[in-house]
Amino acid sequence: MLSSRFQIRSIHSSACLTKTLKGKTPAEQRWLARQLKDPYVKASREQNFRCRSAFKLLEIDDRFGLLQPGHSVVDCGAAPGAWSQVAVQRVNAAGNDPESPRGTVVGIDLLHVPPLDGAHFLCSHDVTDPATHAKLLELLPNNQTHVILSDMAPNASGLRHMDHERLITMCLSLIDLAEKILQPGGSLLCKYWDGVRVHELQQRLSSVFSSVRTLKPNASRKDSSERYFLARMYRKPVKWR
Ligand SMILES: C[S@@+](CC[C@H](N)C(=O)[O-])C[C@H]1O[C@@H](n2cnc3c(N)ncnc32)[C@H](O)[C@@H]1O
Repeated sequence: MLSSRFQIRSIHSSACLTKTLKGKTPAEQRWLARQLKDPYVKASREQNFRCRSAFKLLEIDDRFGLLQPGHSVVDCGAAPGAWSQVAVQRVNAAGNDPESPRGTVVGIDLLHVPPLDGAHFLCSHDVTDPATHAKLLELLPNNQTHVILSDMAPNASGLRHMDHERLITMCLSLIDLAEKILQPGGSLLCKYWDGVRVHELQQRLSSVFSSVRTLKPNASRKDSSERYFLARMYRKPVKWR
């Protein structure tokens, strides 16, 4: 009985898939077929997350306990807002848990981010621009944050080496941002694409954080060069006059 029900459902869903794929280019067909089969896409729809990337942050946070109630979080490259949704829940930024301290979430993106209860978005803002840093300082309690998250990615050119270079440069700019807003002991989680300059980024992070580890969450596609650095225990550099 169960297997015949399953067969009927499979016939039905493959008929739907054929209909959905009609009139699409081969590349669009491949992308759509992958989306339709992806369990994280399905789960994000069921759990009202704005995109599947929510599960990467959930997995990392479940493992390392990065986001605690009452924490402040800066989410770099926030659109469409799935990581901010996770951060709002975990730091209690919407105040849904009256027993726990209320946190703060500020998201930044070049693009528009639809409003989210508990989060403040700096849309049409560039994370690498010092003018954005100044606005961030005003929004953060005590001008400091516990955590910087970055899932930022430049528009892919298709040239792997060039895309890698551009993302590494963006990640390096986060170290300057950390110097302005990250509190001592704080954490930075940033996405990069694997390539020749990864070692340089790791070394720069290790010079100001006590621990730096490489992560590849299950929700990150196996065929992607995407990885994350989780840098913890920030040591603010001492400025000599
Ligand atoms: C993969 S998406 C982020 C998805 C997001 N973590 C989520 O869960 O919804 C990458 C984002 O980085 C943003 N981005 C790229 N460069 C940026 C920059 N210099 N400043 C701000 N945002 C940037 C892009 O506009 C894009 O929305």
